[in-house]
Amino acid sequence: MSEKTILRALKGERLPVPPVWMMRQAGRYLPEYRATRAKAGDFLSLCYTPDLAAEVTLQPINRYGFDAAILFADILLLPQALGLDLWFVTGEGPRLSTVTTAAGVRALKPASAIHDTLSPVYETVRILRRELPSETTLIGFAGAPWTVATYMIAGRGTPDQGPAHAMKAENREAFSTLIDRITEATIDYLSAQIEAGAEVIKLFDSWAGSLRGQDFDDFAIEPTRQIIAALKSRHPGIPVIAFPREAGPRYTGFARATGADCVALDNSVSADWAAAEVQKDGCVQGNLDPRLLVEGGETLETETRRIVRAFSNGPHIFNLGHGITPDADPENVQRMLAAIRG
Ligand code: CP3
Repeated sequence: MSEKTILRALKGERLPVPPVWMMRQAGRYLPEYRATRAKAGDFLSLCYTPDLAAEVTLQPINRYGFDAAILFADILLLPQALGLDLWFVTGEGPRLSTVTTAAGVRALKPASAIHDTLSPVYETVRILRRELPSETTLIGFAGAPWTVATYMIAGRGTPDQGPAHAMKAENREAFSTLIDRITEATIDYLSAQIEAGAEVIKLFDSWAGSLRGQDFDDFAIEPTRQIIAALKSRHPGIPVIAFPREAGPRYTGFARATGADCVALDNSVSADWAAAEVQKDGCVQGNLDPRLLVEGGETLETETRRIVRAFSNGPHIFNLGHGITPDADPENVQRMLAAIRG
């Protein structure tokens, strides 16, 4: 059997047609996802019921034949496993109990205790490795420590990550300890996903763009570097995709600084710039604007082809610059795939 396309791209191979998957490919834009979520009752029950989580992971593979499946779970399951309360408010998003003090950081459960909560996630991975087509790569994931910390400190998503920046400024020691605790737990969480069968790991640092200067080095690069070094020492050869969203000029050199095999690009950076500045260090992933899957039309096709062409001289995995949105038209995904593969 020939090696899976995504794994070849991650080793630095340039392929005539880039392999493709989409962030949030299992989600509310698909009627079959909405049906399974209704059966589960709510989003967290869906995440923690392995048969149903595997079912929604497979839905976009069955419908579109993507080259990779991403485990269905959420980056906020880890804070829950560390002892925080987590719930989702319909139409608003996640809510968590908060950690803002040194005492709060000390009260978190140890990394060794996370598997009590997270074992259903590993079971989902085992089911998927049995059920996925032999050519489809299974991606496991976690949030990067800074992004996870922003939710743990604020108890919710925030436009500017203000509460996390405030804790970093006012209580840097407790903040750094929190980052270390998340880093340590993330290593154990991802190791368990790999042992269950995940073939690639993706780290989502969705709020990396709000870290400036030395803070970007200390809290976006350094925890990511530590996680990747630990995973590669425990599981030699495991490929890692890092997504420091909205890093802008800091995308340059990010793979070298962290040891990532691939850097995922958001759609605020130009593909031509990234082909010259980021792809010179290895594989890149991205970066179609997810709005185009709502709007469709000629622009969807010309933009898709332009991105394929811009990255055609090196290793590239086609993806969106951020997650597909609930109002996207499933037919537009088919049009995007035709433009990539046709
Ligand atoms: O298909 C996939 O991509 C795999 C599963 C996945 C989900 N969330 C499922 C989900 C992945 C990889 C994530 C990552 C995630 N979760 C991130 C990082 C990527 C990014 O989007 O920047 C973040 C920040 C979260 C936290 C989170 N989860 C938020 C802020 C929300 C609410 C916003 C929203 O889109 O509803 C969620 C909920 C969530 N996670 C949904 C899904 C499919 C929607 C839940 C539903 O069905 O109502």
